[in-house]
Amino acid sequence: MLETKLGSLRLANPVLSASGTYGSGWEGRTFSDLSRVGGLVSKTVTLRPRHGNPPPRIWETASGMLNSIGLENKGVEWFLADTLPKMRTLGPKLIINIGGETLAEFVQLAELFCSAGIDALEVNLSCPNVQEGKLLFSTDPRMTERTVAAVKRVANVPVFAKLSPNVTDITPIARAAEQGGADGITAINTLIGMAVDWRKQKPVLSRGIGGLSGPAIKPVALRMVHEVAKCVRIPIIGVGGARTAEDVLEFLCAGASAVEIGTASFVDPAVFVGIVDDLERLLTEVGSSVGAMSRSMLRNLPQPPPMHGRQAELPR
Ligand code: SIN
Repeated sequence: MLETKLGSLRLANPVLSASGTYGSGWEGRTFSDLSRVGGLVSKTVTLRPRHGNPPPRIWETASGMLNSIGLENKGVEWFLADTLPKMRTLGPKLIINIGGETLAEFVQLAELFCSAGIDALEVNLSCPNVQEGKLLFSTDPRMTERTVAAVKRVANVPVFAKLSPNVTDITPIARAAEQGGADGITAINTLIGMAVDWRKQKPVLSRGIGGLSGPAIKPVALRMVHEVAKCVRIPIIGVGGARTAEDVLEFLCAGASAVEIGTASFVDPAVFVGIVDDLERLLTEVGSSVGAMSRSMLRNLPQPPPMHGRQAELPR
């Protein structure tokens, strides 16, 4: 009933942790039985260690949170030696999120992880918190396509492209990711925002701006998942403000096949397993399944009228 598929990756249920919000999962292992979660998505791993941005770099907002972490992590060498073996003991499918400053770095990271043995790669094309948007590949369809294609050439696992909402239209970027061979799209990363300290008359976050996440962005994320679902054939991982089983079902209806839970785990680090239980209960109540719910709003879309009627109305 809860099973779902992301390309060739089968998940026991559609509930995933969102990159950057739950460490590697290892940090949260004492709060619940993580083997019951569909999958864990790691914090972005880069080739070299990164200190990230100076504090303050987290700020709670009404119904959300701003972060400007700046991809702090200890680098791939550490991750492979220390973190990945720990993640493997937790049980769920492992999706490793990678971030490169160049195409070559993405490829190198993909090669390293694929030879280490993981279940899927999530390619972070959309971090808003680094200098001059250096890692913001997904505002440009050509860069998106080239990066995904380069990663796909060396990957032996499904590759998901994580896209930015900070664009006028996400659909050409989603199509570019599909064109590059992506097995799925993760939508969306955070929305760029700002908090202001009026007493100091300056921004709260040291970098000035940060990425907004949490329930405040759910309607935007649902809209973007739906837009992407209408223009690509590959599966979508919805992310943005989901914190309950009902939220997960909304994302599934809008076009997702799985849903990442992020900011909600700051409030309740055991949130994932609660959502899995509630999903099972709600779907039993209505006699449905994750498969039937997923993309259901697309099946309900009105069909275009027959061509012969429309052609006559076209301007000449
Ligand atoms: C960060 O580390 O700054 C957040 C990562 C992201 O938004 O992709």
